[in-house]
Amino acid sequence: MAIEIPRELVESLRRARRVAVLTGAGVSAESGVPTFRDAQTGLWARFRPEELATPRAFRLDPRRVWEWYAWRRELVARAEPNAAHRALVAMEARQPEFTLITQNVDGLHTRAGSRNVIELHGNLHRTKCFDEDVAVSEWTDTGDVPPRCPRCGGLLRPDVVWFEENLPVEALARAMECSAACDVFLSVGTATVVYPAAELPLRARAGGARLVEINPSPTPISAQAHHVLRGPAGEVLPELLRAWTEHDPVLSPREDPPDARGDVT
Ligand code: APR
Repeated sequence: MAIEIPRELVESLRRARRVAVLTGAGVSAESGVPTFRDAQTGLWARFRPEELATPRAFRLDPRRVWEWYAWRRELVARAEPNAAHRALVAMEARQPEFTLITQNVDGLHTRAGSRNVIELHGNLHRTKCFDEDVAVSEWTDTGDVPPRCPRCGGLLRPDVVWFEENLPVEALARAMECSAACDVFLSVGTATVVYPAAELPLRARAGGARLVEINPSPTPISAQAHHVLRGPAGEVLPELLRAWTEHDPVLSPREDPPDARGDVT
């Protein structure tokens, strides 16, 4: 599938000082990790989020919730980063100020080699104490499901953000800051319906950034995007990287690029 990368977008990327990217479940879809809201295949088409991804659900049936996340952890452990993850690693390598903000809890960006990653919704592979809300990396396997906190004996839970819970304060503040300050913002593989993450693309646009949406389907922000690239991230991102780097010597970090704000006047 030939994807047309607009010339204007390539030029903006080449002039950009700061690039920020927001990713969602769509980026991991080509690794075999189900998204949340895609019809039939999405997790929320098969499971009821209010029964599995809220503090109330955990209090009501901690075993069921723990086992559901254990199932997702195994599924993700069998998955491999795909071409979309790898293209983002290559983009970070060539762009001095590149921030990857992800809603994904699968850890595939870090596994692919991305470094400057902000995990807005936590990480499946981390665990914390439900009562003390502090990270727990080791515990004695007493056969309890969920296992118990070695400090207070409370239940352990996955270190992910559930519905009705606040995002990690420092991560959200960094995400808001770099979105408002970037020159180009890529919104990739997210339905852009869950807040506050869904606010970031619009915050970037309001800050003067050139806003790009990469998604096979329309989202509520499609109309606000300067560029909409309709296709799977695993095909579009490598194509965008190719267009960005073609005939363009890698900018050495010391060089100050000309101002690159993407305002369309
Ligand atoms: N490439 C790019 N985008 C894709 C692909 C693909 N191969 N496949 C699907 N998509 C798009 C879908 O069109 C959809 O817009 O990815 C999006 C996935 O949307 P959701 O399943 O709603 O996932 P996301 O936006 O990440 O959800 C946000 O909601 O359930 C909570 O905490 C959970 O982090 C999650 C948050």
